Amino acid sequence: MRVVVIGAGVIGLSTALCIHERFHPAQPLHLKVYADRFTPFTTSDVAAGLWQPYLSDSSNPQEAEWGQQTFDYLLSHIHSQDAEKMGLSLISGYNLFQHEVPDPSWRNTVLGFRRLTPREMDIFPEYSYGWFNTSLSLEGKRYLPWLTERLTERGVKLFHRKVESFEEVARGGADVIINCTGVWAGALQTDTLLQPGRGQIIQVEAPWMKHFILTHDSSLGIYNSPYIIPGSKTVTLGGVFQLGNWNELNSVHDHNSIWRRCCQLEPTLKRAGVLDACKIMARLTRSVGGSAGLAATTVVVGMVTWRESLVTPGQWLLAIVNARIVGELTGFRPVRPQVRLEREKLHFGSSSAEVIHNYGHGGYGVTVHWGCAMEAANLFGKILEEKKLSRMPPSHL
Ligand code: FAD
Ligand code: BEZ
Repeated sequence: MRVVVIGAGVIGLSTALCIHERFHPAQPLHLKVYADRFTPFTTSDVAAGLWQPYLSDSSNPQEAEWGQQTFDYLLSHIHSQDAEKMGLSLISGYNLFQHEVPDPSWRNTVLGFRRLTPREMDIFPEYSYGWFNTSLSLEGKRYLPWLTERLTERGVKLFHRKVESFEEVARGGADVIINCTGVWAGALQTDTLLQPGRGQIIQVEAPWMKHFILTHDSSLGIYNSPYIIPGSKTVTLGGVFQLGNWNELNSVHDHNSIWRRCCQLEPTLKRAGVLDACKIMARLTRSVGGSAGLAATTVVVGMVTWRESLVTPGQWLLAIVNARIVGELTGFRPVRPQVRLEREKLHFGSSSAEVIHNYGHGGYGVTVHWGCAMEAANLFGKILEEKKLSRMPPSHL
């Protein structure tokens, strides 16, 4: 059976692995992955990787199940030898609101979900209500290479290739095509329900940040208010959610807005930036002007001043601006009212192919990926059954 998975984000790679693990070698599979972007250049690499669904449920109740299955699957790996290589860890933190809101349906999926106490609310003076819980973090920049390794050791080959049409893949001999093309699915088959939800994030070095902090503002919509999500090496600052915006360049306006609002939420980010700037300045002045240069640096109550040091004002400014920012990324959430996870048989003249669509995971692809991969594997199993039945000799009864 020849199978082509289109897409090498978290959805494509996990679906490929789940299908291969479940059916091969009992049913020999010749499985290939085609993608025009691989890690670290997919949307899945932009995601902080926090397990958290939206606050209100999708109209498809299966999505809550896929989220639960993904959480349980990941939690079962938390003490495995592989957890670190997978980029998997437990993480606790806060969801903050301006007003009291109903508990989310996933309160019993995460661990230790509870409402914040008045003393805890004092930590966040701009918010009046909140939750605390322990969840999971699955970092794309580790998880995607880990999935790729698992696939490669099973003999699955990955090809850097842009697919222009399903017909091209079907005519190339694929019996089953798994469509995991994320926000770009509309280029292969029109889907008026699918839109980009542009996001931009800043990655900073702030190892003292141990908890995630997500804020919510119903007037701005999901993930359009500041969030801070620690990862294994860096901390992700967001959030931006711009429906219909296909601009993949980082925007200075969004950068400034994320930075300002995250510093307001967590002022230590700013102070640390200045302290780091001091260190960098010290290094710069030392390398340029020895101790005389260093002595020329003055620190004035929480603010670094350039004064007659042997570095240029430009270097000085760069040191402050760039001190702890280690990355900035833009990505497109594949926004759809519901995930599209279904079978479709396509005919192209004399050839045909079974397609399993698995895209449209919005801002919760990491959160539901394994449940979706298992569902795609169930659909694949049904195709196998039907193909076996159609090959059985007719009954003589
Ligand atoms: P992608 O990762 O975009 O992969 C699509 C793949 O399809 C790519 O390999 C691409 O090259 C390939 N492709 C598409 N078209 C073609 C073609 N014609 N030919 C060949 N290849 C093709 N979710 C969470 O659960 N938790 C989070 O913390 C989180 N944070 C986020 C933060 C931001 C800023 C953003 C933007 C998203 C975040 N998300 C988060 C959402 C999550 O990133 C997405 O839901 C998820 O990455 C979608 O995965 P995917 O595999 O469908 O898409
Ligand atoms: C997002 O920006 O899409 C996002 C942020 C935190 C958790 C999940 C998604």
